[in-house]
Amino acid sequence: MICSHIVAVSKNGVIGIDNRLPWKMPRDVAYFNRITKGHCVIMGRKNYEANKKALPDRTNIVISGNMNYHLEDSIVVHSIDEALNRARQSGEKEAFIVGGGEIYKQTRKIVDRIYITVIDTVVKGDTLYPLPDFSKWRILSEIPMQKDENHPFNYTYYILLKP
Ligand SMILES: NC(=O)c1ccc[n+]([C@@H]2O[C@H](COP(=O)([O-])OP(=O)(O)OC[C@H]3O[C@@H](n4cnc5c(N)ncnc54)[C@H](OP(=O)(O)O)[C@@H]3O)[C@@H](O)[C@H]2O)c1
Repeated sequence: MICSHIVAVSKNGVIGIDNRLPWKMPRDVAYFNRITKGHCVIMGRKNYEANKKALPDRTNIVISGNMNYHLEDSIVVHSIDEALNRARQSGEKEAFIVGGGEIYKQTRKIVDRIYITVIDTVVKGDTLYPLPDFSKWRILSEIPMQKDENHPFNYTYYILLKP
């Protein structure tokens, strides 16, 4: 099973503030949905609660240390390994780790791919995803996007593969 991160990050490595995204970039949300649809998505409890419900048309696997935490619409597990095993057992070919910061940090060393949207801005935030060293990854694709009336910043979609 391939294990991937998918993340949107500012130039200074910010991904969140007050348990929400620091920007509104609807085309990036649509891209996220297109890439992850039909797959297992693995997330931290805080990320789940920020969304308030499971992401549709995906198997949602939520990680919490709380043994009494239950969700109607998602599988709850209690470790990263358990999350990955549940995805593997379901026959998944590519599982997506969709954040937030704590979960990305703990899985940084094991991912095979990173779908990273770099947003051309510097913002304040409380949750970080340090930008990867691009020289240590193979850049499969790089698609620059222009700002417009609905997207306040330029941004670039990259897909990075472990060499
Ligand atoms: N820009 C992006 O692409 C992007 C994507 C996703 C999220 N975000 C942002 O990221 C922020 C949320 O991230 P976060 O770091 O605060 O929280 P998080 O990673 O979503 O969730 C943290 C929680 O996950 C559980 N957890 C973490 N590691 C665990 C482990 N090894 N075993 C068991 N449980 C574990 C714990 O839940 P319990 O407390 O229940 O034990 C912990 O409190 C929000 O601002 C969100 O908007 C940004």
